[in-house]
Amino acid sequence: MPESTLSRTGATESRIGQGTPSPQVAQESLSKIQSRSARIGIIGMGYVGLPLALLFSDQKFQVTGFDIDREKVKVLSEGGSYIYRILPAEIQAARAQGFRATDDYAQVREMDVLIICVPTPLNEYREPDLSYIVGTAQAIAPHVHAGQLIVLESTTYPGTTEEVLVPILEKNPAGVKAARDGAAGAGNFYVAFSPEREDPGRTDIARPDIPKVVGGLDAIAGNLASALYNSIFRRVVRVSKPAAAEMTKLLENIYRCVNIALVNELKLLCLRMGIDIWEVIEAAKTKPFGFQAFYPGPGLGGHCIPLDPFYLSWKAREYDFQTRFIELAGEINTGMPYHAVRAVGSALNRHKKALNGSRVLVLGVAYKKDIDDLRESPALTIIELLQKEGAQVAYHDPYFPRVGHGRHYKLNMERAALDTVGQYDCVLIVTDHSDYDYARIVREAKLVVDTRNATKGIASPKIVHC
Ligand SMILES: NC(=O)c1ccc[n+]([C@@H]2O[C@H](COP(=O)([O-])OP(=O)(O)OC[C@H]3O[C@@H](n4cnc5c(N)ncnc54)[C@H](O)[C@@H]3O)[C@@H](O)[C@H]2O)c1
Repeated sequence: MPESTLSRTGATESRIGQGTPSPQVAQESLSKIQSRSARIGIIGMGYVGLPLALLFSDQKFQVTGFDIDREKVKVLSEGGSYIYRILPAEIQAARAQGFRATDDYAQVREMDVLIICVPTPLNEYREPDLSYIVGTAQAIAPHVHAGQLIVLESTTYPGTTEEVLVPILEKNPAGVKAARDGAAGAGNFYVAFSPEREDPGRTDIARPDIPKVVGGLDAIAGNLASALYNSIFRRVVRVSKPAAAEMTKLLENIYRCVNIALVNELKLLCLRMGIDIWEVIEAAKTKPFGFQAFYPGPGLGGHCIPLDPFYLSWKAREYDFQTRFIELAGEINTGMPYHAVRAVGSALNRHKKALNGSRVLVLGVAYKKDIDDLRESPALTIIELLQKEGAQVAYHDPYFPRVGHGRHYKLNMERAALDTVGQYDCVLIVTDHSDYDYARIVREAKLVVDTRNATKGIASPKIVHC
């Protein structure tokens, strides 16, 4: 980040005095960010917030992690970690650098920067549930002060920052208002939206190499947020306003959701036509332009792809607009766990067995390979569907010794032993963790239904691809 000052023109300037001068308080905030003396509070110590805290801490910022989950605060305070890929040693290194975790919102007052990374799920009617953002904003508001930069990172529909977050923050006892272009005074705080682009489990791109999109409520907020993220990311991409940054994130996730639905649908056709979709994708991938590979599977999982598109569908209704691609993709992707269960039923049928009463081992319950995240995992739906059909279901996953209950499931199962594979009528591969020895599993199992092409290269009549 080049040495710079701030201006209301939107440009990052080389010295004070160009354009309309920005308030002293903003200049001070910028200096603190550039000198790494800004105190950063990150709200929500989950899969997004905790790694972000470590990145800032690594760059010598004083970071405080806020979370309402006391257990997480306790673990972090003891130098431990509850996310598999984050080692306790990393937490301890951050603590040596001053990183602290707390559930005490009064400390928000001491922060120069606040970054909000709280969940944005859907409610039972598949509508946006903004209760975490609203709750966070209400908790922050009493402590908001002039010069503070507040960035929302939670994925949400365009308009959330301006229409939901800012009005709550502005109900602060100090009477400070969010800076807006052409209407700012000395007593402002600054607001921006910057979406998270974390891809859990991915090791081929270092986090600082993933460009960071930033949209400020006004030009100064955009400049401050850019300076902040420039200290940890190699490239910051500025867009004109928070809604453009919110929409950018949704476009990225809708693109994935729709393309996954496309290959899922084509997979169903290929199965009927006796064509191997995986072979087709590998061949298509060799085209050096105009094609990006997406892969079929047992259904969407994770906090993002299955949920985020519906944030936009919901908002679009306000504009009398139907997001048909999103709805269609949702319909196809939601049907995939049902397809996997039907495939188990017909594979057993070929062995003259009924699903009702058969013993089925589900291999892998995380929503994707090599991660410890169960959220929205299709495995949970598949297990419930199999149980409804009368199957006796067990599961194995190296990351989960137990699967309890969540917002949409109630399983309360203990992990089965992997050396009992041969005792099941069918092994259903739902998540293709790298830890598994697939050749051995196929050798020992009576029947394997593979939703992920995990058994690629293994020739056996026991394998059914679905
Ligand atoms: N996980 C991902 O890969 C990913 C990727 C991109 C974007 N996102 C988005 O980032 C946001 C956060 O996702 P996540 O995966 O980190 O969620 P998470 O559930 O792992 O973590 C959220 C944390 O926020 C805490 N929290 C909830 N309300 C709070 C409050 N009022 N004050 C303080 N803490 C509070 C929770 O206790 C939890 O620890 C979501 O909007 C998600 O869509 C996630």
